[in-house]
Amino acid sequence: MSELNNIAIKILENGKGILAADESTGTMTKRLDGVNVPSTPENRLLFRETLFGSLSMKKCIGGVILYDETIKQTTTKKNKIPELISKMGSLPGIKVDTGTKALAGSLEEKITEGLDGLRERLKEYNELGAKFTKWRGVYNISKNYPSKLSVHSNAHALARYSALVQECNMVPIVEPEVLMDGDHSVKQCLEVTSEVIKKCFDELIAHKVDLKGMILKPNMILAGNKSREKVSNEQIAKLTLECLQSSVPSEVPGIAFLSGGQSEIEATENLNLINKHNNTNFIMSYSYGRALQQSALKHWSKDIQDIEGTQKVFNHRAEMNTLAAQGKWSKDLEI
Ligand code: 13P
Repeated sequence: MSELNNIAIKILENGKGILAADESTGTMTKRLDGVNVPSTPENRLLFRETLFGSLSMKKCIGGVILYDETIKQTTTKKNKIPELISKMGSLPGIKVDTGTKALAGSLEEKITEGLDGLRERLKEYNELGAKFTKWRGVYNISKNYPSKLSVHSNAHALARYSALVQECNMVPIVEPEVLMDGDHSVKQCLEVTSEVIKKCFDELIAHKVDLKGMILKPNMILAGNKSREKVSNEQIAKLTLECLQSSVPSEVPGIAFLSGGQSEIEATENLNLINKHNNTNFIMSYSYGRALQQSALKHWSKDIQDIEGTQKVFNHRAEMNTLAAQGKWSKDLEI
């Protein structure tokens, strides 16, 4: 087994998943504003080090995706953040894209930036302890979108990024996110997501990316958040599996879903059903941001010194998702 394949499996084995704590300062400020906590570097660090020091890091969280600010921070107990994560038995990772801009040629769509100087930045992150990385491409569904141009150019950027990351001996997480925003049907989401993922793999193969040494981070197959269509959790699981089975090459070791605006319980329930019905060889786990942190953030905001109470809330969510990643979750385990 290659070193990269080992890392990918270590992150996702035995029901472990990924904590996506890589919100940019802008996004984190929005999250903190939402719970009335000032967004200072100290507060952003305090919340994050509280999560990273939790017990569930040992048995549930195989990897943590960090943001540039956080990977360079030192905890109140004078530990470097990547060292704290490693000490807890998890692996530190880093978001390396620099966000989205309007796509020239189709200005209502987005292209992800960050390729210029990436080789040098990767070297620096690797020296800081990163073992894996993340890059997110975004796609909207509407009557005319996503355009062929957006599907192609985002796939091309994801592939160029992945090749550079593997050259630097880290595992790339490839995240093509088809957004839930809009009134599209679940069928449209299935068609668009399948097309987007297939195009990503065409480009990854063209760029000679080792598919055994990467993790795919897709959205689940859901109806738009403004659609009136009623789709059962069973159907979501079935369509998500159908999509991945037909569009992901069998060499890929693992798939870690984003939560994308689902509630905490929805994200857990859907992951659980996906695993109950999983007849593929892919590990199917989670790489959640909001669906892992929402309750913990709410609890913490009431008393930012309540480390133990916040960790308890986070541990519960992490444990529920790790059960779901093995198809062993049930609603009565929720408190
Ligand atoms: P959500 O789970 O909140 O969608 O975040 C995952 C992520 O990493 C988005 O890039």
